[in-house]
Amino acid sequence: MGLNQQWMQRDLEVLWHPCTQMKDHEHLPLIPIKRGEGVWLEDFEGKRYLDAVSSWWVNVFGHANPRIGQRIKDQVDQLEHVILAGFSHQPVIELSERLVALTPDGLDRVFYADNGSSCIEVALKMSFHYWHNTGRPEKKRFVTLTNSYHGETIAAMSVGDVPLFTETYKALLLDTLKVPSPDCYHRPEGVSWEDHSRTMFAAMEQTLAEHHASISAVIIEPLIQGAGGMRMYHPVYLKLLREACDRYDVHLIHDEIAVGFGRTGTMFACEQAGIRPDFLCLSKALTGGYLPLAACLTTNQVYQAFYDDYPTLRAFLHSHSYTGNPLACAAALATLDIFAEDQVIEANKALATRMGSATAHLADHAHVGEIRQTGMALAIEMVKSRDGKLAYPWQERRGLKVFEHALSRGALLRPLGSVVYFLPPYVITPEQIDFLAEVASEGIDIATRDSVSVAVPADFHPDFRDPG
Ligand SMILES: Cc1ncc(COP(=O)(O)O)c(C=O)c1O
Repeated sequence: MGLNQQWMQRDLEVLWHPCTQMKDHEHLPLIPIKRGEGVWLEDFEGKRYLDAVSSWWVNVFGHANPRIGQRIKDQVDQLEHVILAGFSHQPVIELSERLVALTPDGLDRVFYADNGSSCIEVALKMSFHYWHNTGRPEKKRFVTLTNSYHGETIAAMSVGDVPLFTETYKALLLDTLKVPSPDCYHRPEGVSWEDHSRTMFAAMEQTLAEHHASISAVIIEPLIQGAGGMRMYHPVYLKLLREACDRYDVHLIHDEIAVGFGRTGTMFACEQAGIRPDFLCLSKALTGGYLPLAACLTTNQVYQAFYDDYPTLRAFLHSHSYTGNPLACAAALATLDIFAEDQVIEANKALATRMGSATAHLADHAHVGEIRQTGMALAIEMVKSRDGKLAYPWQERRGLKVFEHALSRGALLRPLGSVVYFLPPYVITPEQIDFLAEVASEGIDIATRDSVSVAVPADFHPDFRDPG
């Protein structure tokens, strides 16, 4: 029995993997990874896989990056962790100063959590609590876009709208207001992203006009709805939303957990609209993909609403044991150093262009409904028919075929349903991008070639995506 097989068997005896139907592993190999280097992951038998999805969108400067690794090693000998209530430490202070300086003016306070979903909980609770502290407890509802994803905890799911993740738990979720997404995939033919995004804003305006008195905040994934299939829209929507939130006295929460740190072409997506949200949620690439950490930035105006004598009970008494962990903060500081020293955002422009040109030929593919790109995120939507962008039934799991083909060729592509996407580490080379495009093309050919016979239930919902 090979080494991979041995590790796989031991794993399947005891582990329960995230976002996985474990029965799939009766036929789908689980890949045990021994080491990583740059864009590559290597299994126990020496086979390498190019990590085109940055290991769930977290890695930006490659695996086993020596600069990040060294910073963590230095920190581990100094201080591994300390309670952040009543105590502080150098990495968390320096990181907070850097984040305040890097993000739009006015985001002056940083509250830490230890993963993206908890960061969303922080933002939602803080917004609600702000209105409570300022004498407006009736402002307690949240507005979200259809096809949103904000994480897996109960409140984060409540503001999400990808049925695959939320449907089962519906009975547990908060009552939220859902507004149709400005997602440009389904825009009418001949209409620009900008015009479509503008048009779609009318529904948001109407919801805010009708319900603002009871609304605490609007939460959105700026520019790219990630888990919802890398669906994209124009920055004008963010600008209009900022103006409307100001007019209606409603908070704006930007979930930049997936899109922050250069994914959209700018350091933060909000820069493309020239706006400042009231809450900015960051995680994933914050530590370069090394350690779990999340930061919720907000304004001094919000902070001041909690600042009072203890007996008023206005304090934000939210905590996680590993809040502001020094090792994670050290990794984040090293990551920010690399962004600055290597002028990464500028250098990424050439890589983004290459991603576009390497995949351009797929635009004519009989089963490609759209190729879309925002900065360092590129998505290719496979369709049953280009006519009306007819989706494949999700039960056919076409994306899984691309995944399997890519593995055989030494690439980790993990489509979202029928959406094949690249969200690679920024240390990828132009030649490696060409390789990914080649693998994706072959995979799409294979995945769309055969008819797949699966029973499609009468209540088939084309957007009920399988994460592959
Ligand atoms: C936009 C967005 N928000 C929140 C989350 C949740 O982050 P985490 O998986 O760290 O809980 C994700 C994860 O993919 C995400 O894409």
